[in-house]
Amino acid sequence: MSTPSAVRWHDGKLLILDQRQLPGVVEYLEIDDVQGGWDAINTLAVRGAPAIGIAAGYTLVVAMAAEGRDLEAKPGQFLAQLEQYATHLESARPTAVNLSWAVRRICERAKRSANLDAIREEAEHIHEEDRAICRAIGVNGRELIKPGNGVLTHCNAGALAVSELGTATAPLYLNHQQGMPFRVYVDETRPLLQGARLTAWELSEAGMDVTLICDNMAASLMAESKIDLVIVGTDRVTRNGDVINKIGTLNLAILCAHYGIPFYVACPSSTYDPETKFGHEVTIEQRDPSEVLGESAARVPVHNPAFDVTPVNLVSAIITDRGIARPPLAVALERLLIENND
Ligand code: MRU
Repeated sequence: MSTPSAVRWHDGKLLILDQRQLPGVVEYLEIDDVQGGWDAINTLAVRGAPAIGIAAGYTLVVAMAAEGRDLEAKPGQFLAQLEQYATHLESARPTAVNLSWAVRRICERAKRSANLDAIREEAEHIHEEDRAICRAIGVNGRELIKPGNGVLTHCNAGALAVSELGTATAPLYLNHQQGMPFRVYVDETRPLLQGARLTAWELSEAGMDVTLICDNMAASLMAESKIDLVIVGTDRVTRNGDVINKIGTLNLAILCAHYGIPFYVACPSSTYDPETKFGHEVTIEQRDPSEVLGESAARVPVHNPAFDVTPVNLVSAIITDRGIARPPLAVALERLLIENND
């Protein structure tokens, strides 16, 4: 694959691809303390639910390594320091469940063995598991795309948002590798243009047939029968099957219902949050007005939520690494992701 990795881990060094500069500049930031990791996540140098979980896991490792091996002799202090860093990292972004999921996994591991090797191993497991999860989503979702289809996606749930292959894009990558012809329409995804800067770039670099559209063009394409299915990623799926994803996802789901187009969500098991019952309970990140205002000189209030909630009744199916969940989604997700948890 030609896309550079969002997170690199080599010889105890954590490198984060600075996605704010893509696609023009490919540059890595070296993270060596907790504040560096927090800033990278908060300012979207690294973004995408699984990638921020992976980055947070390694950030805890480098931050604890900087404390020195001496702390391993004092397990109580080791755990207290780790907890302080973990809580801080969790505050970097509120919506994607993968961030706290990954950080809590590291803390749980440290409770069993409070040492650097154990937490490094756990961070590496999280990264390795994500590769397998994305591939499984790709394998499970492949059948949903037929030769000649027009597929619409939103934001970036691609390789840049995970370890590799992406979630929403994994079925696209696998079918493309097998030579299947299809077209991908990419929403530019205002205000930060993850679709235009990241998804359009990575899929076209992979050789796919990609067309970029403004967010407000989806309805007209659907009216012209150019879209056969929509696949998006997610930052969190709640117990009832509500989907929290990039702002604008809800618009697409409503359009799909109107035009009778399947609306699919790719959800890794790490993004399923059975502890939260409904989508409206999830904190939606509000971002800086300047992202929307851009160069505008207007002095007006700005509303800038980064995510929206798509109600479960608008979702045709959820593609997970353990299979495809079909309605009733709450029951199907529980069966696939809780009961099958070995
Ligand atoms: O604000 P971002 O760029 O982190 O938002 C990313 C998304 O909404 C993705 O669709 C989601 O995280 C899934 S990534 C596999």
